[in-house]
Amino acid sequence: MLSKTIEAALNKQIRIEAESSQVYLAMAVWAEVKGLEGISNFMYDQSDEEREHMLKLVKFVNERGGHAHVSELNAPNVTFKGYKEMFEKLLEHEIFVSNSINDLVHISLQEKDYATHNFLQWYVAEQIEEEAVARTILDKVNMIGDDKGGLYLFDRDIQQLTVSSAAQDLGSEE
Ligand code: FEO
Repeated sequence: MLSKTIEAALNKQIRIEAESSQVYLAMAVWAEVKGLEGISNFMYDQSDEEREHMLKLVKFVNERGGHAHVSELNAPNVTFKGYKEMFEKLLEHEIFVSNSINDLVHISLQEKDYATHNFLQWYVAEQIEEEAVARTILDKVNMIGDDKGGLYLFDRDIQQLTVSSAAQDLGSEE
C-alpha cells in the first residue's frame, strides 16, 4: 500500500510525464509545419514515449492500492525561433524531468518504500539515456549552424543518428 506522501509524489510525476508528452507533441507539430519531416517524426516518437512513461506510473499507483490522478495540464510552448532553440528546450526539459525523478527517489527512501524505490530505478536509467540523446542531438545541431545542406541531412538522418550515437556515448551494444 502506498503512503499518502508517495501517492501524491507519484501523481505529481504522472502529471509531469503527461505534460512532457504535450511539450514534445507541440514540437512535433511545429517541425511538421516547418517541413522538417524527420525532426517531426522524432518528436512524435518522443511524445509517445512520454505517454508510456506516464502510463507505467498510472498502473503502478493503481496496482499498489493508490488512485492515479489524471489532472489538467499546463499548455506547452507551441512556437520556436528555430529548430536549435527547440532542441535546447528538449534538453532543458529532460534535465527538469531527471531532477524530478531524483526528488521522487529521495522521497521513496525517506518513506522507506523500497518497492517504489526499486520501480523508480527504471526511470533513473531512462533519464540517463534521454539526456544523452538530447545532448548528442544538440552537439550535431551546433555543428550544423546555419548550413542549409547540413540541416537537410540532419533532418533525413535524425532517427539513426540519435539511436546509434547515444548508444555509443553510453558504451552500449545496441
Ligand atoms: Fe519521461 Fe523524457 O522523461
